[in-house]
Amino acid sequence: MKNQLVIVLDFGGQYNQLIARRVRECGVYCEVKPYTTPLDELKARNPIGIIFTGGPNSVYLENAPKVDPEIFTWGVPILGICYGCQLMAQTLGGEVTAAQEDSAREYGKTHTYYDISCRIFKGLPAEGISWMSHGDYMAKVPEGFALTAHTDACPNVAIADEARGFYGVQYHPEVNHTENGVKMIRNFLYEVCGAKGDWSMQDYCQTAVAQIREKVGNGKVLLALSGGVDSSVAAALLAEAVGDQLTCVFVDHGLMRKNEGDEVEAAFSKWKFHFVRVDAEARFLGKLAGVSEPEKKRKIIGEEFIRVFEEEAKKIGRVDFLVQGTIYPDVIESGAGDAEVIKSHHNVGGLPDYVDFKEIIEPLRLLFKDEVRQLGRELGLPEYLVMRQPFPGPGLAIRIIGEITKEKADLLRDADAIFREEIANAGLEYSINQYFAVLTDTRSVGVMGDGRTYDYTLALRGVTTTDFMTADWARIPYEVLDKVSVRIVNEVKGINRIVYDITSKPPATIEWE
Ligand code: XMP
Repeated sequence: MKNQLVIVLDFGGQYNQLIARRVRECGVYCEVKPYTTPLDELKARNPIGIIFTGGPNSVYLENAPKVDPEIFTWGVPILGICYGCQLMAQTLGGEVTAAQEDSAREYGKTHTYYDISCRIFKGLPAEGISWMSHGDYMAKVPEGFALTAHTDACPNVAIADEARGFYGVQYHPEVNHTENGVKMIRNFLYEVCGAKGDWSMQDYCQTAVAQIREKVGNGKVLLALSGGVDSSVAAALLAEAVGDQLTCVFVDHGLMRKNEGDEVEAAFSKWKFHFVRVDAEARFLGKLAGVSEPEKKRKIIGEEFIRVFEEEAKKIGRVDFLVQGTIYPDVIESGAGDAEVIKSHHNVGGLPDYVDFKEIIEPLRLLFKDEVRQLGRELGLPEYLVMRQPFPGPGLAIRIIGEITKEKADLLRDADAIFREEIANAGLEYSINQYFAVLTDTRSVGVMGDGRTYDYTLALRGVTTTDFMTADWARIPYEVLDKVSVRIVNEVKGINRIVYDITSKPPATIEWE
């Protein structure tokens, strides 16, 4: 391996992959390893630095995860975050206890003061907000360490032994809420570990291609392509790796946006894999006829999708590998446990149970959305595919309230296309995270020319969000809304009234169904 390496030692915290992602963002190759990895194994990899992650435990409990104390005599720089900081303090002779007073137990955004002579705070402001989440307190700091940050409530939120290259922070520099957090990680990498910044997405791409080639050998690979960002990038990566051993099946359920099916076909039919577009509009609309209940629509589409995919897979014959475009946030969300099902979100891009194959390949499993986009660019995908906004698997079926017909789908497609065009004309397409039109089942009276109309009401929805779990309604300028409204009622026959949805999530959801 030609790249410098940083190891993130995982103690079970919720932001571990986010730390890895921040290190990659700083141009340094990084791997996450369980805290149980033997020291010899870590040493054999010759990392330039190690980061201990946070974790849910308290270091003073009997079964709390520990490290081999020899890690501290090896000579490699270490940054401990939250639990990692406390573990370092305790192992080196400090003392960690449950915070006695509520004041030393800190959660959330906390005003913090930094000693900027410390190398990890070099060049940064002397105070700012940090994101805390700890109930324990370093009652005694180990010998050789200086206190390098404090808050109003807590004297020791960061410690450093500059001579040995050991740093600990009680807060989470990896989350966005910590001002300059990524710069602190960058300082650890560049000022302390001597990073050169020799890693890029191009390296990731080359490594992933080599790994896929090795795994697949001369096996056959199948991928369900939806035209969304994740499956498109996965397809491009697999194409690069195993070319004509790959078949991509694009099931067009007839509920795509305007021209979308043709765009997907145009973008992918030139690639050197086998591209199969299944025109299943009639089949899906047939199954959906007369159905208006949202969950039932989703179920029908999910099941029908499997059937179609299965039939195509059979035509190909024996498949060895099935590719899924799962990305890291999907991994976290699906592990979320007992959360109540609000909507049975399924991504129709990947439903492997019914297809006979040897193994699943998930080449994007450790990447965050913007890294997936970066990888897509690296692989030469067009910008409109790489930057595409999310589109739900069941497509327009959940944006047509009530029963679905082809006529309604066409109405919605035309109106939605105008909305998207005007948002792009206003230069807002990347500042609003998701925006679309919804065809309601309400009709109202209007007047056009001298005549009465009795047509559908169309709702416009636009949201800003980073994680799609919560969202705010987008403050689209009135002039833009006005233009969209005028154009739609003039150009789309059958719609005579436009409303804009001004509810956030929660209490509403992003989609209407
Ligand atoms: P909600 O409506 O739950 O949507 O606030 C959150 C995000 O998920 C998308 N969404 C889906 N994606 N299959 C998908 O692949 C689905 O069934 C589905 N339902 C909602 C939605 O577009 C938004 O980005």
